[in-house]
Amino acid sequence: MSETSTNHCDIADISLAEEGERRVKWAERSMPVLRQIRKRMSEERPFEGVKMSACLHVTTETANLMETLKAGGADVVLCASNPLSTQDDVAAYLVDRCDVGVFAVNGEDNDVYYDHVRSAIAHGPMVTMDDGADVVGALHMIALDRLDDLHPVISNWVSSLTDEERSSILGNVLGSTEETTTGIIRLRAMAADGVLQFPVIGVNDSFTKHLFDNRYGTGQSTLDGILRATNMLLAGATVVVAGYGWCGRGVAMRARGAGAKVIVTEIDPLRALEATMDGFPVMPMAEAAPLGDLFITLTGNRDVVREEHFRLMKEGAMVANSGHFDVEVDLTGLKKISSGPRPLRPFVEGYELDGKEVVILGEGRLINLAAAEGHPASVMDMSFANQALAAEYLLSDVGRGLSKDVHRLPMEVDREIARLKLIGMGIEVDGLTAQQEHYLSSWDQGT
Ligand code: NAD
Ligand code: ADE
Repeated sequence: MSETSTNHCDIADISLAEEGERRVKWAERSMPVLRQIRKRMSEERPFEGVKMSACLHVTTETANLMETLKAGGADVVLCASNPLSTQDDVAAYLVDRCDVGVFAVNGEDNDVYYDHVRSAIAHGPMVTMDDGADVVGALHMIALDRLDDLHPVISNWVSSLTDEERSSILGNVLGSTEETTTGIIRLRAMAADGVLQFPVIGVNDSFTKHLFDNRYGTGQSTLDGILRATNMLLAGATVVVAGYGWCGRGVAMRARGAGAKVIVTEIDPLRALEATMDGFPVMPMAEAAPLGDLFITLTGNRDVVREEHFRLMKEGAMVANSGHFDVEVDLTGLKKISSGPRPLRPFVEGYELDGKEVVILGEGRLINLAAAEGHPASVMDMSFANQALAAEYLLSDVGRGLSKDVHRLPMEVDREIARLKLIGMGIEVDGLTAQQEHYLSSWDQGT
């Protein structure tokens, strides 16, 4: 049953490996924390004999994580966590030069996407690494015998297995790590329903992940994707940001910095209040719809922009999504009321309705990874340091004793990643004096 890194892969073009290597090495320069972890792991080999399956965006930054896991001794395979985000040269580099089994082809259709997830599961991992919980979700559907809820490519494969092979699929897994907000929401729902079968480390819960990756990474790379796709001018444009969470705050901040008039939509009163006091007009989407030149969804929710909103939009209004799944913009609803899509540029398609054209970017999929390269390496350095350390933690004695729930990495690990990042950036900070330490731990030193 096992598909190992050495005997199997499905990638676009192995001859791209050299170009991939150049780009992966370029990213590595901006990943000092991961470099340091890789060096330690190559000496300590914490993953010796450990099979891992990762389902992540196949980018230069992810390649650096894969090399770190390999340096630690892992037998790792990688599949894509989105059909449009794969960098084919990186996939070729990992297969050709790093002995990582990669199952990812840019632009793959749904059947191929799930066949690649299937290959990751068939590797027989002890640790899985998800960005959106696709591997863990499928593993649980198999465990719960809910084959009808699986893509047929996976359910047909499961049906062909012996009982022993089937039960060993889940039996091998010690735990998992999850990269993103949406994945963690899914996993917490599984834990609440009492169906989660092993511990998961919610990497997104680390401060060194969501404070930086979601805010500064998404803030910059979302606009990067939109600019590469459209070459639009942000100065003077009205940009509607749906969702004022970690990602939305970052995008709103960067769009304002580029001279856009930013409007925020929210459903949470606290976040709506925060956006208001940060100086953004806040209103329902139905009020924002006629005003926006560009709409960006970052909510983790579905149908945030839908039929009633499309009908209210101006001629040429553009709509992009940077939330995890392609459900935030209701394209199915749009297709019912419009004619299109009409290709306008790569990643840009027009839909005609009510005598105007609404423009959808990147098919409503994460625009920063579809039309650009995702977050810069400098921020993924911290996200993927968390991933490598989360895998190590799951295999430690403490990790092996964790309950079947979603956990965060210990605070001291989070702080250590921040400390290493500061060193990498050449920034020094003060330490406490003895008096300060005493003052902070006392209750009778008030004046
Ligand atoms: P978050 O929970 O911090 O913020 C989401 C916000 O959206 C919340 O404030 C919520 O109240 C709001 N919201 C929910 N439904 C809404 C609706 N109908 N209208 C308006 N607002 C609504 O989450 P986050 O960390 O900001 O992540 C947002 C999404 O982006 C998730 O899907 C996450 O997985 C994804 N993500 C993408 C990238 C990327 O590279 N593009 C990176 C990190 C996270
Ligand atoms: N998510 C957002 N940006 C990313 C990147 N550059 N690599 C992997 N996952 C990402």
